[in-house]
Amino acid sequence: MTVHLQRIVVRHDFPVVFTRHLFLPRNRALRDALARGTSPRRHRCLVLVDKGVLRNFPDLPKQIRAYFQTHANALNLVRAPLTLAGGEGIKQSAAPVHRMVEALRAGNICRHSFCIAIGGGAFLDAAGLAAALFHRGVRLVRVPTTALAQCDSGVGVKNAINYAGAKNLLGTFAPPWAVLNDADFLDSLPLPLLLDGVAEAIKVAAIKDAAFFRAIERAAPRIRQRNLPVIRRILKRCALLHLEHIASSGDPYEMGTARPLDYGHWAAHKLESMSRHRLSHGHAVAIGIALDALYAARIGLLPRTQARRLVTTLSACGLPIYNPALGQTRRSGSLVVLDGIEEFRAHLGGELTITFPAPLGARVELHTIDTPLMADCIATLSDWGQPLNVKSRDHD
Ligand SMILES: NC(=O)c1ccc[n+]([C@@H]2O[C@H](COP(=O)([O-])OP(=O)(O)OC[C@H]3O[C@@H](n4cnc5c(N)ncnc54)[C@H](O)[C@@H]3O)[C@@H](O)[C@H]2O)c1
Ligand SMILES: [Zn+2]
Repeated sequence: MTVHLQRIVVRHDFPVVFTRHLFLPRNRALRDALARGTSPRRHRCLVLVDKGVLRNFPDLPKQIRAYFQTHANALNLVRAPLTLAGGEGIKQSAAPVHRMVEALRAGNICRHSFCIAIGGGAFLDAAGLAAALFHRGVRLVRVPTTALAQCDSGVGVKNAINYAGAKNLLGTFAPPWAVLNDADFLDSLPLPLLLDGVAEAIKVAAIKDAAFFRAIERAAPRIRQRNLPVIRRILKRCALLHLEHIASSGDPYEMGTARPLDYGHWAAHKLESMSRHRLSHGHAVAIGIALDALYAARIGLLPRTQARRLVTTLSACGLPIYNPALGQTRRSGSLVVLDGIEEFRAHLGGELTITFPAPLGARVELHTIDTPLMADCIATLSDWGQPLNVKSRDHD
């Protein structure tokens, strides 16, 4: 037998731009992002828009048309933007992805053209899958319009839709051509949608950056009051930490079993499905973070005071730390949410690997979970979840 080991090195550079007034004709962010690394030409572009964005920005299609007219020498809007309802519903079947693919086909989008997707994390996940499948992958420019998408999902390298009741079962790893974060989209978001992003920021701070966690902890009352400059700064730091992780972890396509950025996510994904997605991803993540912080404290990974600070910070920001679905049992008495542990393992493949903060700002990966102890933590969290029982912050 002879084995020829072939190495293929693929390098991806993509700009993540933080801007405002993206479609104001004098803003060159979009034009420059498309021109980067390409020969001068009129770039063919198809635009996909999350209908939810139009509730706050009804003039967006008009602004997009005006932008493309001003930059007609460099940009070619091949058709009117395709608008589809966003939110988790867009990930629940393949039909919206199919409609996007049809639009890409009708617009004669090729591998040198661009798909520009504007929307929340769910919309971008579906659009990313359509762009990755069409011609085996056309260039995707993401314009995330929610806090969570700007600080987490929209800056990463993954896309997916749900299938057979399982979150993100069908998807690909596909880095974007560019990400354009326009802070204007955040300004009109209701507090719960802003908090979805803050939950991911607390997650990444808890396992990677203790100073960032302390900054969020101090800012919590202002976050709850919807102080936008404060929230914007936190979301930007969160986006940069996610990017740094993807670039430096040595495992951008998650070939190994560890997935540190999914701290709190085994329970979150299960709770999202159990609530039929009435619980948003970010709010479910907050609960997952709180639960795993308690567990980490119980097994001695995290000082109890730090676990309490984590949970208290989530609450102080206005995020939930408990949901009644956590207590849902089968006839046998077993907690349904605990199925999320095995589902998480199956999604990653290989050995179960769950990340815990240990201590705040650092992390460890565990390969077994003591489920009776986790059930006990759920009971404790239920008590902590009662507003009167959340004790004031005590520092270690
Ligand atoms: N690909 C990844 O790496 C990754 C990472 C984390 C989360 N996700 C996914 O992201 C999704 C959650 O994304 P999300 O938190 O952005 O929520 P979302 O995409 O479900 O959007 C929530 C709602 O806000 C609307 N909306 C979007 N932008 C708006 C705006 N500017 N103003 C008003 N309404 C607006 C949407 O239409 C939707 O109704 C989940 O499906 C989750 O699995 C993916
Ligand atoms: Zn997440």
